[in-house]
Amino acid sequence: MAIIEPVKKDLRHPAKNKKYSAPLRLWHWLNLIIISGSLITVLINATITDDHSTAILIQSDLKDSGATINADQARSAAHSLSDSVWDIHIYFGYALAALFLFRLILEFFQLADQKFISIIKSKYHNFKTIKNNRIARHEFTVKTIYALFYLLLLVMVITGLFLAFEDAMAPFKAIRHSVKQVHGFCMYLVLAFIAVHLAGVFLAERKDGAGIVSDMINGGKE
Ligand code: HEM
Ligand code: HEM
Repeated sequence: MAIIEPVKKDLRHPAKNKKYSAPLRLWHWLNLIIISGSLITVLINATITDDHSTAILIQSDLKDSGATINADQARSAAHSLSDSVWDIHIYFGYALAALFLFRLILEFFQLADQKFISIIKSKYHNFKTIKNNRIARHEFTVKTIYALFYLLLLVMVITGLFLAFEDAMAPFKAIRHSVKQVHGFCMYLVLAFIAVHLAGVFLAERKDGAGIVSDMINGGKE
């Protein structure tokens, strides 16, 4: 049985019959920039502005220049430094939340055959009807990974906003620590997705999917 693809094409506007719509491509590359920025702030706070090592550095530097401060004062200065990096993380976070909302709204306005939900449904249909077909199984797996990533983004955005608005979330103070742990842990899942995604795109470029990266730039052809 042949693989069934959705075929509702807009013949009067061929430019619309792209594999990836312009707003989706814009979303994809902006999302890449914002997630990378967000990850870089985490990396900076885990290395250059790590509270423990900067506190020691500040204390010993001031000691060398004749001024002495105690460990608490050094810790507080170090904390202010890492807090200013967290402020940048939060700005990236707001941008990521806005992009997520944009992606959600976009889903309603995409052409029928560009909607993620229709695509995953058709891949599922192919997977179920064409037994033991490697391509159908692979295509459905790839879309399922994207669906899981969208869920992960939702968790990241909700937990991140919870932490950013902790004053407003005061009645839920008891769960703040757990929310922070979930947020921190999800970063590893984001990293795992990026590694799998990049490897997948790289392998696809070398095999049956040659040109998918330029499709994600110029839209490709249906
Ligand atoms: C891919 C996206 C993101 C990644 C990888 C990420 C990663 C992290 C990590 C690892 C932490 C430290 C958690 C800990 O100390 O246990 C953190 C803290 C935080 N994140 Fe995110 N985050 C992301 C998105 C967001 C978003 C969308 C927001 C919403 C504004 C946000 C707001 C925050 C806040 C407020 C903190 C606490 C900072 C502090 O300790 O003062 N993050 N994030
Ligand atoms: C933070 C890094 C990245 C994230 C979070 C990310 C996320 C995503 C998501 C969610 C999709 C599915 C979009 C949809 O159909 O709704 C996607 C597709 C795609 N991405 Fe990325 N991406 C990242 C980096 C990259 C990079 C660096 C490249 C190119 C080298 C790339 C190339 C592609 C391509 C070609 C597709 C379409 C693949 C397909 O149709 O299965 N991505 N990406």
